[in-house]
Amino acid sequence: MAAEVGEKWVLSVTAQTPTNIAVIKYWGKRDEELILPINDSISVTLDPGHLCTTTSVAVSPAFTHDRIWLNGKEVSLSGGRFQNCFRELRSRATDFEDENRGIKITKKDWEKLHVHIVSYNNFPTAAGLASSAAGLACLVFSLAKLMNVKEDHSKLSAIARQGSGSACRSLYGGFVKWIMGKEDNGSDSIAVQLADEKHWDDLVIIIAVVSSKQKETSSTSGMRDTVETSALIKHRAKEVVPKRIKEMEEAIAKRDFPSFARLACADSNQFHAVCLDTLPPIFYMNDTSHRIISCVEKWNRHEGSPLVAYTFDAGPNAVLISKDRKTAALLLQRLLFQFPPQSDTDLNSYVIGDKTILKDAGIEDLKDIEALAPPPEIKENPSTQRYRGDVSYFICTRPGRGPVVLADESQSLINPETGLPK
Ligand code: DP6
Repeated sequence: MAAEVGEKWVLSVTAQTPTNIAVIKYWGKRDEELILPINDSISVTLDPGHLCTTTSVAVSPAFTHDRIWLNGKEVSLSGGRFQNCFRELRSRATDFEDENRGIKITKKDWEKLHVHIVSYNNFPTAAGLASSAAGLACLVFSLAKLMNVKEDHSKLSAIARQGSGSACRSLYGGFVKWIMGKEDNGSDSIAVQLADEKHWDDLVIIIAVVSSKQKETSSTSGMRDTVETSALIKHRAKEVVPKRIKEMEEAIAKRDFPSFARLACADSNQFHAVCLDTLPPIFYMNDTSHRIISCVEKWNRHEGSPLVAYTFDAGPNAVLISKDRKTAALLLQRLLFQFPPQSDTDLNSYVIGDKTILKDAGIEDLKDIEALAPPPEIKENPSTQRYRGDVSYFICTRPGRGPVVLADESQSLINPETGLPK
């Protein structure tokens, strides 16, 4: 899209990119600068309808320097990670021409022209949900479109990787593997799609956003400390993950839920075990996270075969993947029974995302939550209490698609006249 700014034009592109949750975790780098991991990882892309980043990027001869606004606030672009992504993209930019507008940008021009970037998450940022993956992936994807970069998604994933490791997996929908690669220059450390989002569309994902006041250790510094001080991480990267990656690929290919769940839960638990094995130890989960694990473990054991998988990233929020819709409704009942909202909460903001799961669970009103009976596996253990207010809210979602360009000008976050945020 192009428009005039006085004598000068503004050319912009808007894209939407999903976030992803790892079911075999990336934790630890062998190269900090290029962001090269010590093991492969596998993730599920989440439906961008519920969790995504939208980014508009614009170029104009009127712009005097590169600028970025994240969630309404201008932030500095001086960080090495942004600069590495820019350098990689600018070096791959190709000639662009819009005859109607009389705009012509040559490969050489891209080195001198400046860009404006405006980015928003469609989920509350205070939630502590990994937003860097979707954000960096969206920045790279939209700039690549603007600069007419002709590389495929796997090459773009290697650029997004240099912004934030987990971002490389957000270049694809469905089920994605980040291959650690062997090369020192990182050229083979790329993401590949294992299966698209339609391959296993029975899965339903419920995220419990856990209330927490604790300041968390960032993934970047946490994993650096782990690599420097943990003996367990070496065993994990060398012996455990390679085997799990193969088994997880097989479980996904066969839609074998019990194996998928066993592997995902074991890998989340081992990731948190290596955090505990770090000096000083890192605690990402809290009591509420542990109670959620216990609720799922009890239920899975009661059923004899796993119906739900849990996984936790560098924070206390639980990502719960259930086998199908029916299970998801039963899971939501269990979660709402154990973690009811405060009495002044609006149900509409307590369970967000795909509301049909709430309907399937038979919950139309806060009164329905209060009336929930304890599930059988809890009845057998009457000591279980209800923890009101320990979960901020739940998001119901599912596996989703990869990045897309939004062609509709009304969805752009940049004013086409001024080149500034709308
Ligand atoms: C626990 O990708 O945020 O979410 O590469 O330093 O930016 P940097 O780290 P980041 O780490 C993500 C760690 C994780 C596991 C995962 O997503 O695989």
